[in-house]
Amino acid sequence: MTQAQITFSLNGEQHQTTVDPRTHLADFLRHGLGLTGTHVGCEHGVCGACTVIVDGLPVRSCLMLAVQVDGCTVETVEGLAEGDALSPLQQAFSTHHGLQCGFCTPGMLMTLEAFLRATPSPTEQDIRIAISGNICRCTGYQGIVEAALSVAATRADSP
Ligand code: FES
Ligand code: FES
Repeated sequence: MTQAQITFSLNGEQHQTTVDPRTHLADFLRHGLGLTGTHVGCEHGVCGACTVIVDGLPVRSCLMLAVQVDGCTVETVEGLAEGDALSPLQQAFSTHHGLQCGFCTPGMLMTLEAFLRATPSPTEQDIRIAISGNICRCTGYQGIVEAALSVAATRADSP
């Protein structure tokens, strides 16, 4: 199988590598690069567990081919924290008990990270709509919504 060469930014670092053109981005991140924070649930674009940010937008990495990120900026859950310091959204998930089974959490974080950058002053309803594509079977949305609201409120209070 002919390999494709791709160059992209991943969590702030430039990468140049070759991939099988049939490989999904989720599999490439997990198995090719060892970034297992991106989880794979349904593998057909429904559950949201595999969400990563590509060029600022949340995408289902199970529906995207790795070759498609050539020239793009990719962010995964591993890029949120700075060393041992959790990102504001990660810290808010902890504070507001937004962590349930954990399998869905990376996708929730990446969906809301992209959403809060684009929507600095969301309503609760805005947040619920934003994560409506991230399926949580344990029904733990309340803490997640409160976490997102607290991050938005903190940013609104910042000069
Ligand atoms: Fe990608 Fe479910 S694994 S949406
Ligand atoms: Fe995974 Fe609710 S967070 S099922």
